[in-house]
Amino acid sequence: MCGIFGYVGNKTAYTEVYDGLKKLEYRGYDSCGISVIDKGKFRTIKKVGAPDELNGKSNSKATIGIGHTRWATHGVVNVKNAHPHISKDGTIVIVHNGVVENAHQFDYDLKSDTDSEVLANLIADEYTLDLGKAVSRALEKVEGTYGIAVMHRDDPKTIVAARRGSPLCIGISGDNSETYIASDTYALPPEISRVIYLEDGHVATIAADNLHIYKADQAVEFSHKITGVDHKYNAGDREGYTTFLEKEIREQPVAIRNAMRGRFSKDFTNILFGGIKLRKKVRRVLFLGCGTAYHAGLVGKYLIESIAGIPASVEYASEYKYKNTPTEDGTLIVAISQSGETIDTLTAIEEAQAQDHMVISITNVVASSIARLTNMGIYQHAGPEISVASSKAFTSQLTILVMLAIYIGRKHNLSKVQAKRYISQLRKLPALIEKTLDICTECKTLSAKWTSMKSCKFLGRQFMYPIAIEGALKLKELAYVDCHGYPAGELKHGPLAAVGYHAMCVYLAPQKELFEKNVSTMKEIMARDSHIIAITQEGLDFPEDTYDNIIYLPKAPDYLQPILAVIPLQFFSMYMAQSHQYNVDRPRHLAKSVTVE
Ligand code: F6R
Repeated sequence: MCGIFGYVGNKTAYTEVYDGLKKLEYRGYDSCGISVIDKGKFRTIKKVGAPDELNGKSNSKATIGIGHTRWATHGVVNVKNAHPHISKDGTIVIVHNGVVENAHQFDYDLKSDTDSEVLANLIADEYTLDLGKAVSRALEKVEGTYGIAVMHRDDPKTIVAARRGSPLCIGISGDNSETYIASDTYALPPEISRVIYLEDGHVATIAADNLHIYKADQAVEFSHKITGVDHKYNAGDREGYTTFLEKEIREQPVAIRNAMRGRFSKDFTNILFGGIKLRKKVRRVLFLGCGTAYHAGLVGKYLIESIAGIPASVEYASEYKYKNTPTEDGTLIVAISQSGETIDTLTAIEEAQAQDHMVISITNVVASSIARLTNMGIYQHAGPEISVASSKAFTSQLTILVMLAIYIGRKHNLSKVQAKRYISQLRKLPALIEKTLDICTECKTLSAKWTSMKSCKFLGRQFMYPIAIEGALKLKELAYVDCHGYPAGELKHGPLAAVGYHAMCVYLAPQKELFEKNVSTMKEIMARDSHIIAITQEGLDFPEDTYDNIIYLPKAPDYLQPILAVIPLQFFSMYMAQSHQYNVDRPRHLAKSVTVE
């Protein structure tokens, strides 16, 4: 949520920062800005909209600068509230991600409605020729979360960065002559392969050719760990697609192959997860996640129960930390997060770790905060997901969850023979996804037909229930249609009352053994003059009076059907959004990684 980028070196800072912000715009795109120090003065440009608005060219030759792309938390979207913010005395400029929760306690005459401007003033008040110390002292006074980059007008060689709960990394050039600061390694130029991940509570004083990192509260410097960064998964551009979303939907066969690569034993009877070493036998699994990742956890619950044969549950990470969740010895907590930066999931993990639970993570971003915090986990290797709506990350998570269920099952009662059968079916998945992508062309016609829908219900039983709520979330976030997902059997317990003349339902019914049940529920809906788009699998002949339109997925075992069934829903939502000319990669009010509560 919000992107930060900074540069100090020998190139034109404005251009370097602009290029970095362009890559970060998926983190927030309601306003943006860049400040450089040029001949003893700040030169600041701020705009409403995405970084494109900033124009990559500047006549400033300054070699130090910071920038920001914003997802508004405090204050409406306008130029005044866009970052960077400058202190009242004009000496400090700051870009800030996070929330200063006690901003109201400080009495400054502010130009903007942001908590970040308070921080700029606090730092200016603390400044006595050492910017790092001023930042440390100011941060002692604030409550809340932050990732910041700060410059002082009279110190054109230094950027100070600090972090608590909001990610920041520092990239160093091969010859040590340039240093970058970014809220995501993805934004660093490809030639930067050495990175330091700033830890919570740390402050870094960064000059072009030297770097000091210390704990904010102790001012004691310590040696920092430089990590390699692999740019091989960098998305580059849209590669011929008009949107990142379409590119990412179509990348699903590759993402799923990458999720499986190197993870089967030689005889295909077991799963190899190099990143997991559990200290106890797993007796129960609890999944944590938010949004789409929560839906993955919900599928995970069905998978663990049916394949591994042990109990499983799922909690919204944002709820878990505020409630008492009774668990038993041997509970494995599996935190799922594409970005690895979601603050709700991060803090839920901290809570679980404080209770001495075994915690592993499933994340797509190598060395992300969640990956580092859990220290044990499974990387998705799905490649960067730039579009705000999650697509390939979700199906890649589901694939990993099937493998996790087999992995845990093998430590319980799952026989070699059964495991081998599951694995052989799983290996056919990329080909099934390719087939599904082919049949999804009809989703465009369907979305054109239903383009004026104002609300929609998504229904499904068993493995299809999580896909129903994921489908509802996709259509909601991309096409702004009011949608809800329900287990189909719940219809009679309330929602049916809202199914009236011309109501729209998407009904997920690919399971053979639930055929009769689904036919009867679909008839109940159609009898109320409503409309159904049915999603089923080849070979299931639904009577013609049970749907308006029908999509046939390729035949697959029931536990793999969620991975196929979500694909037409992704396309349908994308085409619906496009038919309204909405920006499918950047839905209104949302940002890719949610690093504030
Ligand atoms: C929906 C979507 C969000 C995320 C959620 C968690 O398409 O993308 O619901 O799934 O914000 O994000 P991560 O997985 O990064 O923790």
